[in-house]
Amino acid sequence: MRIGILGTGALAEALGTGWARAGHELVVGGRSRAKAEALAGRLGGATRAADPREVVDGRDAVLLAVLWSGVADVLSDVDAAAGTLAGTTLIDPTNAVEHGVGVLLTEPGRSAAGQIAAWAPGAHVVKAFHLFPAERWTAPPPASGHDTADATVVICGDDAGALRIAGELIRDVGGTPAVLGPLDRARQLEEAAGFVIGLAFAGFDPNSAIPRVPTLPPQSPSPDGSTA
Ligand SMILES: NC(=O)c1ccc[n+]([C@@H]2O[C@H](COP(=O)([O-])OP(=O)(O)OC[C@H]3O[C@@H](n4cnc5c(N)ncnc54)[C@H](OP(=O)(O)O)[C@@H]3O)[C@@H](O)[C@H]2O)c1
Repeated sequence: MRIGILGTGALAEALGTGWARAGHELVVGGRSRAKAEALAGRLGGATRAADPREVVDGRDAVLLAVLWSGVADVLSDVDAAAGTLAGTTLIDPTNAVEHGVGVLLTEPGRSAAGQIAAWAPGAHVVKAFHLFPAERWTAPPPASGHDTADATVVICGDDAGALRIAGELIRDVGGTPAVLGPLDRARQLEEAAGFVIGLAFAGFDPNSAIPRVPTLPPQSPSPDGSTA
Protein backbone atom coordinates (compact mmCIF):
# COMPACT_ATOMS: atom_id res chain seq x y z
CA MET A 1 0.00 0.00 0.00
CA ARG A 2 0.97 3.63 -0.38
CA ILE A 3 0.84 5.00 3.16
CA GLY A 4 1.25 8.56 4.37
CA ILE A 5 2.32 9.25 7.95
CA LEU A 6 1.65 12.69 9.42
CA GLY A 7 3.83 13.13 12.49
CA THR A 8 7.38 12.10 13.21
CA GLY A 9 7.23 10.97 16.85
CA ALA A 10 7.12 7.67 18.72
CA LEU A 11 3.96 6.19 17.20
CA ALA A 12 4.90 7.25 13.66
CA GLU A 13 8.22 5.47 14.08
CA ALA A 14 6.79 2.30 15.68
CA LEU A 15 4.06 1.70 13.11
CA GLY A 16 6.25 2.98 10.26
CA THR A 17 8.88 0.40 11.20
CA GLY A 18 6.39 -2.43 11.00
CA TRP A 19 4.77 -1.23 7.79
CA ALA A 20 8.09 -0.63 6.06
CA ARG A 21 9.11 -4.14 7.06
CA ALA A 22 5.84 -5.44 5.58
CA GLY A 23 6.82 -3.87 2.25
CA HIS A 24 4.55 -0.84 2.13
CA GLU A 25 5.62 2.38 0.42
CA LEU A 26 5.77 5.11 3.08
CA VAL A 27 5.91 8.88 2.90
CA VAL A 28 6.42 10.73 6.21
CA GLY A 29 6.04 14.38 7.07
CA GLY A 30 5.36 16.76 9.91
CA ARG A 31 5.90 20.35 10.87
CA SER A 32 9.66 19.71 10.98
CA ARG A 33 11.15 18.66 7.65
CA ALA A 34 14.42 17.76 9.42
CA LYS A 35 12.62 15.32 11.74
CA ALA A 36 10.78 13.82 8.74
CA GLU A 37 14.07 13.31 6.86
CA ALA A 38 15.64 11.71 9.93
CA LEU A 39 12.66 9.39 10.47
CA ALA A 40 12.58 8.39 6.80
CA GLY A 41 16.27 7.52 7.09
CA ARG A 42 15.65 5.33 10.16
CA LEU A 43 12.68 3.56 8.54
CA GLY A 44 14.79 2.85 5.46
CA GLY A 45 13.63 0.94 2.41
CA ALA A 46 11.46 2.95 0.05
CA THR A 47 10.47 5.47 2.74
CA ARG A 48 10.88 9.14 1.95
CA ALA A 49 10.14 12.45 3.59
CA ALA A 50 7.81 15.03 2.08
CA ASP A 51 5.86 18.13 2.99
CA PRO A 52 2.58 17.33 4.76
CA ARG A 53 0.47 18.24 1.72
CA GLU A 54 2.33 15.68 -0.42
CA VAL A 55 2.12 13.09 2.38
CA VAL A 56 -1.67 12.88 1.94
CA ASP A 57 -1.67 12.97 -1.86
CA GLY A 58 -2.72 9.72 -3.56
CA ARG A 59 -2.33 7.48 -0.49
CA ASP A 60 -4.32 4.34 0.27
CA ALA A 61 -4.11 5.22 3.95
CA VAL A 62 -2.88 8.11 6.09
CA LEU A 63 -1.90 7.78 9.76
CA LEU A 64 -2.55 10.88 11.86
CA ALA A 65 0.30 10.37 14.36
CA VAL A 66 0.29 13.80 15.98
CA LEU A 67 -0.64 15.04 19.44
CA TRP A 68 -4.32 15.94 19.78
CA SER A 69 -3.32 19.56 20.38
CA GLY A 70 -1.69 19.60 16.91
CA VAL A 71 -4.39 17.79 14.93
CA ALA A 72 -6.27 20.90 13.82
CA ASP A 73 -2.99 22.52 12.69
CA VAL A 74 -1.78 19.55 10.72
CA LEU A 75 -5.15 19.04 9.03
CA SER A 76 -5.09 22.71 8.11
CA ASP A 77 -1.54 22.30 6.71
CA VAL A 78 -2.83 19.62 4.33
CA ASP A 79 -5.93 21.60 3.31
CA ALA A 80 -8.18 18.86 4.67
CA ALA A 81 -11.18 21.23 4.74
CA ALA A 82 -10.91 21.49 0.95
CA GLY A 83 -11.35 17.72 0.63
CA THR A 84 -7.71 16.66 0.12
CA LEU A 85 -8.35 13.53 2.19
CA ALA A 86 -11.70 12.68 0.59
CA GLY A 87 -11.90 8.97 -0.16
CA THR A 88 -8.72 8.25 1.80
CA THR A 89 -8.57 5.92 4.79
CA LEU A 90 -7.56 8.23 7.65
CA ILE A 91 -6.36 6.31 10.71
CA ASP A 92 -6.85 8.20 13.97
CA PRO A 93 -4.78 6.91 16.90
CA THR A 94 -5.03 10.13 18.93
CA ASN A 95 -5.74 10.28 22.63
CA ALA A 96 -7.45 13.56 23.43
CA VAL A 97 -7.04 13.11 27.18
CA GLU A 98 -5.78 15.09 30.12
CA HIS A 99 -2.25 13.82 30.64
CA GLY A 100 -1.86 11.57 33.67
CA VAL A 101 -5.59 11.69 34.45
CA GLY A 102 -7.31 10.22 31.42
CA VAL A 103 -10.31 12.56 31.34
CA LEU A 104 -11.34 13.19 27.74
CA LEU A 105 -10.80 16.70 26.43
CA THR A 106 -13.60 16.43 23.90
CA GLU A 107 -17.07 17.68 24.81
CA PRO A 108 -19.46 15.16 26.38
CA GLY A 109 -20.89 12.90 23.68
CA ARG A 110 -18.28 13.97 21.13
CA SER A 111 -15.20 12.05 19.98
CA ALA A 112 -11.83 13.09 18.64
CA ALA A 113 -12.39 10.80 15.66
CA GLY A 114 -15.74 12.46 14.93
CA GLN A 115 -14.10 15.88 15.14
CA ILE A 116 -11.38 14.74 12.73
CA ALA A 117 -14.05 13.49 10.32
CA ALA A 118 -15.66 16.95 10.46
CA TRP A 119 -12.30 18.67 9.83
CA ALA A 120 -11.49 16.34 6.90
CA PRO A 121 -14.68 16.08 4.84
CA GLY A 122 -14.96 12.90 2.82
CA ALA A 123 -12.11 11.12 4.63
CA HIS A 124 -12.87 7.55 5.72
CA VAL A 125 -11.85 7.91 9.37
CA VAL A 126 -11.00 4.78 11.33
CA LYS A 127 -10.22 4.94 15.05
CA ALA A 128 -7.36 2.53 15.69
CA PHE A 129 -4.08 1.96 17.53
CA HIS A 130 -4.89 4.41 20.35
CA LEU A 131 -4.97 1.87 23.19
CA PHE A 132 -1.56 0.20 22.99
CA PRO A 133 1.77 1.87 23.76
CA ALA A 134 3.86 2.45 20.63
CA GLU A 135 6.48 -0.01 21.90
CA ARG A 136 3.93 -2.81 21.58
CA TRP A 137 4.50 -2.74 17.82
CA THR A 138 8.28 -2.97 17.98
CA ALA A 139 9.07 -4.97 21.12
CA PRO A 140 9.62 -8.72 20.72
CA PRO A 141 6.70 -10.68 22.23
CA PRO A 142 7.32 -11.61 25.91
CA ALA A 143 7.99 -15.28 26.70
CA SER A 144 5.00 -15.77 29.02
CA GLY A 145 1.84 -14.20 30.38
CA HIS A 146 -1.27 -12.96 28.61
CA ASP A 147 0.75 -10.47 26.53
CA THR A 148 1.87 -13.43 24.41
CA ALA A 149 -1.62 -13.39 22.86
CA ASP A 150 -2.13 -11.24 19.80
CA ALA A 151 -2.99 -7.67 20.62
CA THR A 152 -6.67 -7.19 19.77
CA VAL A 153 -6.87 -3.77 18.19
CA VAL A 154 -10.45 -2.57 18.47
CA ILE A 155 -11.41 -0.23 15.66
CA CYS A 156 -14.47 1.60 14.42
CA GLY A 157 -15.40 3.43 11.25
CA ASP A 158 -18.18 3.96 8.72
CA ASP A 159 -16.51 2.72 5.54
CA ALA A 160 -16.10 -1.02 4.97
CA GLY A 161 -13.13 -0.58 2.65
CA ALA A 162 -11.32 1.63 5.14
CA LEU A 163 -11.97 -0.86 7.95
CA ARG A 164 -10.49 -3.58 5.72
CA ILE A 165 -7.38 -1.49 5.01
CA ALA A 166 -6.92 -0.67 8.71
CA GLY A 167 -7.36 -4.37 9.51
CA GLU A 168 -4.58 -5.33 7.09
CA LEU A 169 -2.27 -2.70 8.59
CA ILE A 170 -3.02 -4.04 12.09
CA ARG A 171 -2.16 -7.59 11.02
CA ASP A 172 1.07 -6.31 9.45
CA VAL A 173 2.33 -5.31 12.92
CA GLY A 174 1.15 -8.50 14.61
CA GLY A 175 -2.26 -7.36 15.91
CA THR A 176 -5.75 -8.77 15.41
CA PRO A 177 -8.38 -6.26 14.29
CA ALA A 178 -11.80 -6.27 15.95
CA VAL A 179 -14.46 -3.99 14.47
CA LEU A 180 -16.66 -2.53 17.23
CA GLY A 181 -19.02 -0.72 14.88
CA PRO A 182 -19.43 2.59 13.06
CA LEU A 183 -17.53 5.77 13.88
CA ASP A 184 -20.14 6.81 16.42
CA ARG A 185 -18.62 4.14 18.73
CA ALA A 186 -15.36 6.15 18.79
CA ARG A 187 -16.26 7.98 22.00
CA GLN A 188 -16.51 4.63 23.76
CA LEU A 189 -13.12 3.53 22.40
CA GLU A 190 -11.57 6.82 23.44
CA GLU A 191 -13.06 6.51 26.95
CA ALA A 192 -11.51 3.03 27.16
CA ALA A 193 -8.08 4.57 26.58
CA GLY A 194 -8.79 7.27 29.18
CA PHE A 195 -9.76 4.52 31.65
CA VAL A 196 -6.51 2.62 30.95
CA ILE A 197 -4.37 5.76 31.16
CA GLY A 198 -6.08 6.92 34.37
CA LEU A 199 -5.54 3.57 36.11
CA ALA A 200 -1.92 3.29 34.95
CA PHE A 201 -1.08 6.75 36.30
CA ALA A 202 -2.88 5.91 39.56
CA GLY A 203 -0.51 2.97 40.01
CA PHE A 204 -2.84 0.11 39.07
CA ASP A 205 -2.34 -2.48 36.34
CA PRO A 206 -5.22 -1.76 33.92
CA ASN A 207 -5.20 -5.42 32.81
CA SER A 208 -6.12 -6.44 36.36
CA ALA A 209 -9.23 -4.24 36.18
CA ILE A 210 -10.77 -6.12 33.24
CA PRO A 211 -12.49 -9.38 34.17
CA ARG A 212 -11.74 -12.46 32.13
CA VAL A 213 -15.08 -13.28 30.52
CA PRO A 214 -15.73 -16.01 27.96
CA THR A 215 -16.10 -14.96 24.34
CA LEU A 216 -19.68 -15.27 23.15
CA PRO A 217 -21.15 -15.99 19.72
CA PRO A 218 -21.92 -12.76 17.82
CA GLN A 219 -25.50 -11.62 18.31
CA SER A 220 -27.52 -9.94 15.64
CA PRO A 221 -30.15 -7.35 16.54
CA SER A 222 -33.77 -8.27 15.80
CA PRO A 223 -36.11 -5.75 14.15
CA ASP A 224 -37.40 -4.56 17.56
CA GLY A 225 -33.84 -3.71 18.63
CA SER A 226 -33.43 -6.59 21.08
CA THR A 227 -30.68 -9.18 20.53
CA ALA A 228 -31.32 -12.81 19.69
N1 LIG B 1 3.29 6.88 21.83
C1 LIG B 1 2.33 6.06 22.20
O1 LIG B 1 2.56 5.11 22.95
C2 LIG B 1 0.92 6.26 21.67
C3 LIG B 1 0.03 5.18 21.77
C4 LIG B 1 -1.26 5.33 21.31
C5 LIG B 1 -1.66 6.54 20.74
N2 LIG B 1 -0.78 7.59 20.69
C6 LIG B 1 -1.25 8.84 20.08
O2 LIG B 1 -0.54 9.01 18.87
C7 LIG B 1 -0.31 10.41 18.63
C8 LIG B 1 1.19 10.62 18.48
O3 LIG B 1 1.81 10.24 19.69
P1 LIG B 1 3.39 10.10 19.82
O4 LIG B 1 3.66 9.31 21.03
O5 LIG B 1 3.97 9.69 18.53
O6 LIG B 1 3.78 11.60 20.17
P2 LIG B 1 5.21 12.32 20.02
O7 LIG B 1 6.30 11.33 19.99
O8 LIG B 1 5.23 13.37 21.06
O9 LIG B 1 5.09 13.00 18.57
C9 LIG B 1 4.06 13.94 18.38
C10 LIG B 1 4.03 14.41 16.96
O10 LIG B 1 3.00 15.40 16.87
C11 LIG B 1 3.57 16.57 16.27
N3 LIG B 1 2.89 17.79 16.68
C12 LIG B 1 2.65 18.22 17.93
N4 LIG B 1 2.02 19.40 17.89
C13 LIG B 1 1.87 19.74 16.59
C14 LIG B 1 1.30 20.84 15.90
N5 LIG B 1 0.74 21.88 16.57
N6 LIG B 1 1.31 20.84 14.55
C15 LIG B 1 1.88 19.83 13.88
N7 LIG B 1 2.43 18.73 14.47
C16 LIG B 1 2.43 18.72 15.81
C17 LIG B 1 5.02 16.57 16.75
O11 LIG B 1 5.81 17.43 15.99
P3 LIG B 1 7.18 18.00 16.61
O12 LIG B 1 8.12 16.84 16.71
O13 LIG B 1 7.61 19.02 15.64
O14 LIG B 1 6.84 18.55 17.99
C18 LIG B 1 5.33 15.09 16.54
O15 LIG B 1 5.60 14.81 15.18
C19 LIG B 1 -0.89 11.15 19.85
O16 LIG B 1 -2.16 11.66 19.54
C20 LIG B 1 -0.98 10.08 20.93
O17 LIG B 1 -2.03 10.33 21.83
C21 LIG B 1 0.51 7.46 21.13
